[in-house]
Amino acid sequence: MSAQPPESAPIRRLTVPQIAARKGAEPIVALTASHVQFARILDAHCDVLLVGDSLGMVSHGFETTLPVSLELMIAHGAAVVRGTARALVVVDMPFGSYEESPQVAFRSAARIMAETGCQAVKLEGGARMAETIGFLTARGIPVMAHIGLTPQSSNTLGGFKTQGRDEDSWPLHHADAAAVAEAGAFSVVLEGMVEPLAAQVSAACPIPTIGIGASAACDGQILVMEDMLGLGDWAPKFVRKFADLRGEVDRAAGAYAAEVRARSFPAEDETYR
Ligand code: KIV
Repeated sequence: MSAQPPESAPIRRLTVPQIAARKGAEPIVALTASHVQFARILDAHCDVLLVGDSLGMVSHGFETTLPVSLELMIAHGAAVVRGTARALVVVDMPFGSYEESPQVAFRSAARIMAETGCQAVKLEGGARMAETIGFLTARGIPVMAHIGLTPQSSNTLGGFKTQGRDEDSWPLHHADAAAVAEAGAFSVVLEGMVEPLAAQVSAACPIPTIGIGASAACDGQILVMEDMLGLGDWAPKFVRKFADLRGEVDRAAGAYAAEVRARSFPAEDETYR
């Protein structure tokens, strides 16, 4: 039996080359996802679903992304892949799983790809990660890069600080974007960047830029799903809340509690006779 699908088989999922080809074209729609039920809903609307390590903060209550483990990313990544059929699924490489050497990065990334079934990994860092990006892409692992505000380096950056406020730093960000593109990344997240810098980087960078807090000048946008659904009690300035799920969940839980206390739930038609 052939291991190849027949040539006529429909390729349902967006592919890495298709996303790479969106440079300067149709905007890339991306959101984070970490649970199967949400992934099923988002799949119809998004080109890319990122299993971001921000899940450590929004789903697990960590203060930063640093405590997130490879096993946690793999568990959430596999759930999102199971819940999707169309979006390209990218899984974040957590802190400590890739920085040491290209070889360590390859072993971690290979586990992520094999154990989740995702199509690509994302890692943080510009020029300093170029060698690793080249090593991974040469071995069949597509890489989305992530520059600007890189939360895994929040201790070095002195917090979650918008990048590029000081124009003297711009050449470094340009160099980062050029280095990850040159190394073979198929796209790059620009996080927390002032607009004029993000616009310049997007214009100069040959691969699609996907912005989060980096203005409309990017080739696509990504938000943390819980933020845009209004689930958290706080969100950064750049987040638009497209829903108020916190209010809705609060209302539903309150209604449930009231009905249980009043013994009006479950009702007759919700009871097995
Ligand atoms: O972990 C994450 O959610 C991310 C996005 C902010 C791009 O990396």
